[in-house]
Amino acid sequence: MKILVIGSGGREHALVWKIAQSPAVKKIYCAPGNAGIAQQAECLPLAAEDGPSIIAWAEKEKIDLTVVGPEAPLTVGIVDAFEARGLRIFGANQQAAAIEGSKALAKFFMKKYGIPSGDFQVFNDYGAAVRYVKKTGAPLVVKADGLAAGKGVILCPAVAEAIAALDLIMVQKAFGAAGRQVVVEEFLQGEEASFLAFTDGETVLPLPTSQDHKPIFDHDQGPNTGGMGAYSPAPVVSEKVHRQVMEQIMIPTVKGLAKEGRKYRGVLYAGLMIQDDKAKVLEFNARFGDPEAQPLLMRMKSDLVPVLEATIDGNLSNLKVEWEEGATVCVVMASQGYPGSYEKGKVISGLEEVARIPGAFVFHAGTALKDAKIVTSGGRVLGVTAIGNAIGEAIGLAYKAVEKISWSGVYYRKDIGQKSLKKGMAT
Ligand code: AMP
Ligand code: GLY
Repeated sequence: MKILVIGSGGREHALVWKIAQSPAVKKIYCAPGNAGIAQQAECLPLAAEDGPSIIAWAEKEKIDLTVVGPEAPLTVGIVDAFEARGLRIFGANQQAAAIEGSKALAKFFMKKYGIPSGDFQVFNDYGAAVRYVKKTGAPLVVKADGLAAGKGVILCPAVAEAIAALDLIMVQKAFGAAGRQVVVEEFLQGEEASFLAFTDGETVLPLPTSQDHKPIFDHDQGPNTGGMGAYSPAPVVSEKVHRQVMEQIMIPTVKGLAKEGRKYRGVLYAGLMIQDDKAKVLEFNARFGDPEAQPLLMRMKSDLVPVLEATIDGNLSNLKVEWEEGATVCVVMASQGYPGSYEKGKVISGLEEVARIPGAFVFHAGTALKDAKIVTSGGRVLGVTAIGNAIGEAIGLAYKAVEKISWSGVYYRKDIGQKSLKKGMAT
């Protein structure tokens, strides 16, 4: 098979790395990829958002299967466009991906189907939103309705901050059209987890649980990022919580979406807040998480390609997927200054040394090749991922690898996985 992966982050490197292990695969392409992906796939000078060029290329090259990494192409209908040409593609179609593309739609959907989530109101009028916020009181969460590259969610401990957030989104239009509507939501307390499942629109096949680390600094301090590290499994998802999530969230969501004419085929990701052994949904994503995909795919024992195909063909009920028993940890190494502004083009050293450590692998995110050297080219640069029999071993190995890698202005969190270590093991 010839496979094309769309995207350029750590998640896409993990997809390429896992797909490359499949005996069914002869050649992998990536649009546009990065310096790490280029070691396992042929990278194409096509932006992930450039649907028409990607489709024309896939048709010409007779690509057997395309896999979409990021949300932006999904929400503008790349899957629909591929399918209209008779090309096979893994990902949610436009109607289904709207569960991520519009937070208001996701909230109204959850309310209609009784899926546990925080109370909320949706506004497209600034004055009405401000009056509501003043009446309700803080803490609150203000969210731009559309995609905002992870920056459209503003946690507001005080009313003044909520009004400032409304001003930023609705008056200054900081996120453009994504802020035409806002969701003002109840501030939920607890511990977060990521719950991902393959679904063909009927069967829901959960992946192991995982946990992201959103804030930039240790002990979850500072502004939120795309994710500074992740591990799997996440013990906060106890057996009881797992059951509740499947029964009250994942299955009703997939069934409800089908009823709404939004049949979901792909990976459905529920971002959860868990308190007192009960999960509520913070958001849905229509794709693998990044960095969650790195530790999750490293734990996957089965071949990924048949799972992707069964998802497309509606055959997931016939499939059994096997996972490594142990634990995996991914530590994101970032450019100093991220999630704000940062410099690029710093030469990365130590990658060859880590390549010799069994059980560890460096997934590239923002990297590029310059004068035959691998240099930084983004905020999140590498996802150093390791597997162990238990979480402590995986953490130790991941940081052993991290310490061998450096560049001028490297930054990473030192506490990835500590929450799990404190709680003990889960599956
Ligand atoms: P989202 O993109 O909606 O997942 O929001 C990004 C992050 O903001 C989440 O991972 C949480 O850390 C936080 N967040 C979102 N919604 C809420 C909420 N209702 N209560 C508390 N924190 C939230
Ligand atoms: N790691 C969070 C996300 O992928 O949305």
